[in-house]
Amino acid sequence: MSKMELLQECAQRRQKLMAKVGTGVMILASAPLSYHHKDVEHKYRQEADLYYFTGFPEPETVAVIAPQHPEHRFVLFVRPKDKEKETWSGYRVGVEAAKTLYGADAVYPIGELDEHLPKYLEGADTIYYSFGQNEKVNQQVLQHYRQLLATYGKRGTGPKQIADSRFLTTPLRQYKSDYELAQIRQAVAIAVQAHQHVRAIARPGMYEYELEAILEGDFRKGGAMGCAYPSIVASGANSCILHYVENNRQMQPGDVVLIDAGCCYNYYNSDITRTFPLEGKFTSEQQAIYDIVLTAQRQAIAQVRPGKTINDVHQAAVHTIVAGLLDLGLLAGSPEEIIEKELYKPFFMHRTSHWLGIDVHDSGFYKQEGEWAVLQAGMVITVEPGIYISPTIEPGEGQPPVADHWRGIGIRIEDDVLVTEGGHEVLTAGLSK
Ligand code: GLY
Ligand code: MN
Ligand code: MN
Repeated sequence: MSKMELLQECAQRRQKLMAKVGTGVMILASAPLSYHHKDVEHKYRQEADLYYFTGFPEPETVAVIAPQHPEHRFVLFVRPKDKEKETWSGYRVGVEAAKTLYGADAVYPIGELDEHLPKYLEGADTIYYSFGQNEKVNQQVLQHYRQLLATYGKRGTGPKQIADSRFLTTPLRQYKSDYELAQIRQAVAIAVQAHQHVRAIARPGMYEYELEAILEGDFRKGGAMGCAYPSIVASGANSCILHYVENNRQMQPGDVVLIDAGCCYNYYNSDITRTFPLEGKFTSEQQAIYDIVLTAQRQAIAQVRPGKTINDVHQAAVHTIVAGLLDLGLLAGSPEEIIEKELYKPFFMHRTSHWLGIDVHDSGFYKQEGEWAVLQAGMVITVEPGIYISPTIEPGEGQPPVADHWRGIGIRIEDDVLVTEGGHEVLTAGLSK
């Protein structure tokens, strides 16, 4: 799909958003620039809601969605063209082109936000805004809200509250369109190939970072924007560290290798974990743990269908893992009590699923008003149970000690799963496990 088609879809998304914003007004702010080493800029990545509704990729941008405004229902504030600045930090769309290309009813230079924002706010009863990382815009929104409140008595109209915009944007972002699914499928295809590549060449004596380099090289060669998150290449006991990213160990015979790596293609992410024996064959302990995690994952995936909750998926994994650890003597007691008291948590301390999309941990509620989120066709989640028996593990109260031969084994298996009308589709099914 071309950029033009994306922008047409953004226009449709804004129509749906406007229906929700109603008599209010929504302000969406770009992500701030972020830096390493104080002044070296990270590659810029647009804030997800702003990107979703505008497709506009630049920093220092504010979008206003003002359904009640007579002429300007969609307004952009952007960086103006600037020859010198563009020489240093790249092309800018600019005010004129933003209007034609991005379909805004009005576009202003970002420096004029304070001047023009009030006229879009004063007719609205609610400002929808999410106080996020953009401190500058946070302050500007607050200041205009205060000023309008102070003069409300004279005008008799104007915003009386600020509500978090994510309660309106999230329900739209949760359902992936065909366009979005095509991007996720491509992010999956690139990452699947990269996982296959490193698995084929991994040998004792190599360093974890050699696999990381190949994964990330393959991501870029495949046309991905880059990693979805820092790649985890965790061999041996490193497999028990959930967010291990040093990737600097020399891999040894007998290791398991846990690779959690996904890429970002055209703003959409894949998120995949596989754990494999470095020498092609697990030890009996590694195999026993692997089999439990694989069964847990299959049981969890079997729960994915419209009407089931995200917690049903997790509970299926928990039940299988608890039963498996009881069988191996790594837990003792009744399964009900172990689950009730969460005594399995020293071995399985994270949840099974998160939403996946423009953000790796995508916008979406897990629980609202006490109720677990219900899965519906078009949603995409990960299913990623694991068992981690760290070298220093202390079992929960009243549980058997962990024998040494179990220590240092960490297994996670993670797939990306689309909820369909009839059940689900495992998007990452092409990668063996
Ligand atoms: N790699 C990030 C996650 O699995 O959530
Ligand atoms: Mn994940
Ligand atoms: Mn992951």
